[in-house]
Amino acid sequence: MSVIELRDVSVTFHERKRTVEAVKHVSLTVDKGEIFGIVGFSGAGKSTLVRTINLLERPTGGTVLIDGKDVTNVSGAELRDLRKRIGFIFQGFNLITNVTVGKNIEFALKAGGYPKEQWAERVRELLALVGLENKIDSYPSSLSGGQKQRVSIARALANKPEILLCDEATSALDLETTEGILELLRHINKELGITIVFITHQLDVAKQIFDRVAVMENGIVVEQGDTFDVFSAPKHPTTKALVERYLGIAVPPQLVPSLPEGTIVELRYKGESALEPLISAVAQRYGVSIDVLHANVEYFGAQAIGILIVLVSGGDGTLGRALEELKANVFGYRELDRAALAAARENAGVAGESADKEA
Ligand SMILES: Nc1ncnc2c1ncn2[C@@H]1O[C@H](COP(=O)(O)OP(=O)(O)O)[C@@H](O)[C@H]1O
Ligand SMILES: [Mg+2]
Repeated sequence: MSVIELRDVSVTFHERKRTVEAVKHVSLTVDKGEIFGIVGFSGAGKSTLVRTINLLERPTGGTVLIDGKDVTNVSGAELRDLRKRIGFIFQGFNLITNVTVGKNIEFALKAGGYPKEQWAERVRELLALVGLENKIDSYPSSLSGGQKQRVSIARALANKPEILLCDEATSALDLETTEGILELLRHINKELGITIVFITHQLDVAKQIFDRVAVMENGIVVEQGDTFDVFSAPKHPTTKALVERYLGIAVPPQLVPSLPEGTIVELRYKGESALEPLISAVAQRYGVSIDVLHANVEYFGAQAIGILIVLVSGGDGTLGRALEELKANVFGYRELDRAALAAARENAGVAGESADKEA
C-alpha cells in the first residue's frame, strides 16, 4: 500500500484580481520507505503540492490519503496527529533564533505531546543522529548553514514521524555541505525506514538520492517514474530542458563555427560501457573520421549515463550509413544543428542563472 496517495489534487489561489492554479489534477503515489522526488523549475507548483501532503495547503480539489486513509478534511486533534506523523524541513531552516538548539527541539516535542520526562533523552538522541551532540546549548546564529539544517532535521524527526517532507532542503547550501545532508537523509531513510518526499530544482541532488521522481511544470506532473529512466530518456520538453541544462552541451559555442564540415551528433549510452570500440569500428568500416568533441558520464544513483558529442565527417558517400550504424548501436542519438547548439548553450546559461537565484 502506498504511504501517500494524492488523487486528482488541485490547489487554486485566489488573489484580488488573479486566480493562480498552482496545482492541477495531480495524482501520484509514494511507496513506504522510498525517497520520492519532485523536480521542476521555479514556480512549477512543487512547494504547493508537497504542502498538501501535511495539509499546510488544503487542496481545493481531490483527495489526500495517508496510509490509505482520506485525510483531506481532518482538523483539530486528527490534524495535529497527522502533522506529528509527517516531519517537514525547508530551505530556510525556520529555527527559533532566540533559544538554544536543545530548546528548539524541545518545543517540537512539547507541541507533539511527547512525555516531558523523556525530552532530555530524546533531544540527546536526535542530536546524536544528526551529529551535533555538542551543540545542544548553542544558539542557531552560531551555526553554519549545514548545522542549522541538521538541527531542523532533528526537530522534524522529534516525534518519530513516518514521513519526512523536504522542500529545497539543500538549495541554500554549498556543494560539500549538501553532500553531508544528503548522506544524513539517506541514512534516515534506510536506517529509520522513514519515507522521504524531496523537492528540488537541483538535478544533481535529484539524481543522487531519488528512487522515483515526478517532474512538474505549470501545476501538472508531466512525467514520472524511476529516476534513472526519467533522466536517461526524458520525454517531456520540461524534463529534457532540466536534463539538458544540468548536463550541458559542453561544446564551446565559439568552437562551433570553426569546426570542419560534418555532422555533429550526440550519442547517449547506458552504463559505463566505452564507445571507443564502436567509434573506431564505424570509422574504419565507412572511412569516416569521428572526432570526440565532448565526453561525459553522469551517475544517477548507482547507474551511469554516458554522453558523447562527436563530429562525423569525410567518407566517400558513406557518411549516412556511418551515422545509421552509430544510431543503431546507442541508446540515444541526436544530430545537433550548429546554430541551435550555440543558441541552446546561451539559453541554458540564462535558465541556470534564474533558477540558481531562486530563494
Ligand atoms: N499563497 C499563495 N498565494 C498565491 N499564489 C501562490 C501562493 N503560493 C504559491 N503561489 C503561486 O503558485 C505557483 C506555484 O508556486 P510554488 O508551489 O511555490 O512553486 P515551486 O515550489 O515549484 O517554485 C506560483 O505561480 C506561485 O506564485
Ligand atoms: Mg518551491
